[in-house]
Amino acid sequence: MQKKEVIQHFHKKYNTEPYVFVAPGRINIIGEHTDYNDGYVLPAAIDKAIYFAIKTNGTPSTVNATAVDLTEDFTFDINQIAPKIGFWGTYIMGVCSQLQKNGYKINGFDVVFSGDIPLGAGLSSSAALECGLLTALNDIFSLGIEKVKIALMGQQVEHTYAGVNCGIMDQFASVMGEENAVIRLDCWDMSYQLFPFELGENIVVLCDSAVKHELASSEYNTRRKECEEGLAICNKLFGVKSLRDVTMAQLEAHKGDFPDIVYKRLHYVVGEVLRVETACQKMKEKDLATVGQMMYATHDGLSREYGVSCEELDFLVDQTRNDSGVIGARMMGGGFGGCTINIVKGSYADAFIEKMSAAYKKRFSVDMKAYKTTVKKGCHKE
Ligand code: GLA
Repeated sequence: MQKKEVIQHFHKKYNTEPYVFVAPGRINIIGEHTDYNDGYVLPAAIDKAIYFAIKTNGTPSTVNATAVDLTEDFTFDINQIAPKIGFWGTYIMGVCSQLQKNGYKINGFDVVFSGDIPLGAGLSSSAALECGLLTALNDIFSLGIEKVKIALMGQQVEHTYAGVNCGIMDQFASVMGEENAVIRLDCWDMSYQLFPFELGENIVVLCDSAVKHELASSEYNTRRKECEEGLAICNKLFGVKSLRDVTMAQLEAHKGDFPDIVYKRLHYVVGEVLRVETACQKMKEKDLATVGQMMYATHDGLSREYGVSCEELDFLVDQTRNDSGVIGARMMGGGFGGCTINIVKGSYADAFIEKMSAAYKKRFSVDMKAYKTTVKKGCHKE
């Protein structure tokens, strides 16, 4: 639907045939807040995406951008970039500026975009916007940029123009995803493996809390600092260069050497790095029950030790704990709102959504949205 609208909008505005690109959002099965700690993550690109209609416009440096959903147009010169945090056009400017900083030459272009990745739901709509536009510009200006570099440049846009010091997971998943495959990414050296996403009779349902607490970006940056502080101590104690090399036994034996809060954060990270490795193995063995239990363990760690959950997310996960139709559930993404990811028996999914929505409404007077999600190919040209 969005794709057709975007093309029609482009035709009406520019009276010419555009190129079309798709940039998906992402889910993450397990491995949360491990990416910037050099651990593993297990994300996949999904069937919710941003669609771009785009074409060069023959000008040296004028960009005309339209966000169809917001019915807003924005024109700027790629040599005069004036970012403003919180404004969608900043991502467009940020992408152009990032390309230029890396020595890639682009000229003027017209772009119209729209999508169905819910904003603020923790499904990485901003990574899709950055990486989708980078993919499109790479193609229409024949820049020859490799896919992993696109993801890294997208991450830089987020750091510089959105003020979030994020890891690489979201951009990597949006760019590198493949249909029906999860990506086991080692954030230490960017090596990765794709393996089939086989849930048998089960499906992924995202429960959207419909809240995004203000704290999200500032607390995210704080967590990174707390981890850096912890790593500096680990470096002195154990000579390690990364938290992934700290063992649980080392950490527990030196509890007293860390400020309390830093110890809690590290205890979560070290546990989570181990959990992802085990969960990957269990997924390969098709032992979903154990993967599900690990998802709950991740949630508990994120909530009690890492301090990035909130009442709404805890409630949504708690509702599933004694539900035999649910294999596993946890908050997903940065935290402080957004979605929980649930692996649910396919035949039960509709009843599950109904039950969850009713309980959420009763407790918070908020309408919970739910998305049955499938795994799709990453950023690509149509
Ligand atoms: C956000 C960030 C990612 C990652 C997750 C938490 O989505 O953008 O890099 O750190 O939070 O796992």
